[in-house]
Amino acid sequence: MDIKVDPDWWKTLFDDIYLLTDARTVCDEDITRLEVNVICELLPIQNDSRILDLCGGHGRHSLELLARGFSSCTVLDYSQRLIHLAKAKATEYNVALNLVLGDARDAGFQDESFDHIFIMGNSLGYIQKPDADQRIMGEAFRLLRKGGWFLADVADGDAIKRTFSASAWHEIGDDTVVCRRRKLKKHAIHAREMILSKEKGLIRDQNYAIRLYRPQALSALMQAAGFEKVGVRTGFSPHKCSGDYGFMNHRMLVTGQKAI
Ligand SMILES: C[S@@+](CC[C@H](N)C(=O)[O-])C[C@H]1O[C@@H](n2cnc3c(N)ncnc32)[C@H](O)[C@@H]1O
Repeated sequence: MDIKVDPDWWKTLFDDIYLLTDARTVCDEDITRLEVNVICELLPIQNDSRILDLCGGHGRHSLELLARGFSSCTVLDYSQRLIHLAKAKATEYNVALNLVLGDARDAGFQDESFDHIFIMGNSLGYIQKPDADQRIMGEAFRLLRKGGWFLADVADGDAIKRTFSASAWHEIGDDTVVCRRRKLKKHAIHAREMILSKEKGLIRDQNYAIRLYRPQALSALMQAAGFEKVGVRTGFSPHKCSGDYGFMNHRMLVTGQKAI
């Protein structure tokens, strides 16, 4: 049976339930710290760098950077709920985090507003229009100062195809089970996600689709956006245990610089 996907699925999926279904990655502080180590390794960020966390969700990477002494972090995300949660955390930790609700294709900042930009946690490939990711990368290029660096952390299409599993499930505590059924297409995965709670019954049944990039295709996208010195590191998996973590355990990290 085909898995039909509403092209606007990404506008509504990223809410409190997403924080449950993906908690093993996006709510695990050890994993966030490890990912931030990678950001610090791959980007030449200084304490006062103006950093943009594009599609930054509930702000976990920026909050960790602020805790490490970086002073200027901006999170842009489409999800009002996640931006709200990031704001609550920033208030709780008493840190100054700039939060912007917006679309990464047209972020609304002035040219060259940032020294370095990253997009972490597999946040590309959601919008089905063929030029969407190109537009996001082009926008990152526009927003970077000359000499600034961009990092994107994206599911590795080759690894996903190699390890493809048509179904997966995992438990969350005693109450909830996340069940996923998947269909592999030529350049995408379509998935149906059902979340069942013992107490509440079915709490979500939603389909989504992720475009898959091979490392070479991701590099080509970066180059087409104008980036130079493009490099891709494959085999990034921050999880300690093997398992099916959705698209979060086979990732690649692509970096590129806007020429000086
Ligand atoms: C898997 S989450 C990752 C969030 C965050 N980077 C992290 O690692 O915790 C993907 C995020 O991308 C955001 N997103 C997807 N497409 C977007 C777009 N066009 N503009 C802004 N945010 C977008 C979603 O709202 C969601 O918060």
